[in-house]
Amino acid sequence: MGVEAILPADFKLMRDYIERNCGIVLGEEKAYLIETRLAGLLAETGCQDYGALYRLAIAETGTAMRDKIVDAMTTNETLWFRDGHPFEILKEVLLPEFAQPLLTGMRFRIRIWSAASSTGQEPYSIAIAIQEYCREHPGLRPDQFEIIASDISPSALFLARAGRYDSAALGRGMPEELRDRYFHKDGQVWVLDDTTKKMVTLRKFNLQDPMEPLGRFDIVFCRYVTIYFAEAFKRRIFEGIARLTAQGGYFITSAVENLQSSEDLFESRHHGSGTYYRSRLT
Ligand SMILES: C[S@@+](CC[C@H](N)C(=O)[O-])C[C@H]1O[C@@H](n2cnc3c(N)ncnc32)[C@H](O)[C@@H]1O
Repeated sequence: MGVEAILPADFKLMRDYIERNCGIVLGEEKAYLIETRLAGLLAETGCQDYGALYRLAIAETGTAMRDKIVDAMTTNETLWFRDGHPFEILKEVLLPEFAQPLLTGMRFRIRIWSAASSTGQEPYSIAIAIQEYCREHPGLRPDQFEIIASDISPSALFLARAGRYDSAALGRGMPEELRDRYFHKDGQVWVLDDTTKKMVTLRKFNLQDPMEPLGRFDIVFCRYVTIYFAEAFKRRIFEGIARLTAQGGYFITSAVENLQSSEDLFESRHHGSGTYYRSRLT
């Protein structure tokens, strides 16, 4: 079966279904994304068109079809140490600040959340940066840092859990020195070491769901995800992150995720060429 053209009425049904279930907003010009990304599901289910696929999805009692649709519609693009400066901020500003209470015994654990962790590059880059910091700062231990990584995409989480990457994926941002320290080769695949994997707890989490059950965090990374969402949903996510990081926590996002309308929630700070945010909530 080839890629079926989507009818305007079916596009509206599918578009609304996708936004309801994961927040991703598709303008009319993005109809092709439904056609190209869901064509495999048409073939798999034997549905004649996208309207039939929609009816199948809303009729299901479980979430299997919804998971497949959402999985196919997410963009999982990511790389190691993405943008550089968030990791400089981590190493040069945030880890030194949080090391103090750990070293003096005032705190036992620092909690970090990678809120749209895709195939693992972001949380594992954080875990590697922390281990590098601990190597340079005797007295600190990687197990004093808890990293929660979450994503809505089951296939991205599956790949993250495996911690196995091909040379092309590893070549996108992983310095050779760190690659050789934290990975070993299994045929054509680079395998992340167990110590780094164990620092990260991966879980499925939809940013549409209440964040409170995740607990409070000292640092939240939420990058290259709210760009796909409507303004009101984006604001809800920022409010949630501001609450979770209230009283001294920090938020790191990307330069394309505009926080101008959230100045009441966060104070911006600058370090090198990067910006990070401190929750104003108490
Ligand atoms: C472009 S990737 C960004 C990955 C990483 N944060 C980075 O900056 O490299 C966006 C990720 O957001 C996830 N995502 C999309 N909608 C989501 C939602 N409603 N809840 C949780 N994750 C979502 C996608 O599955 C995808 O893995």
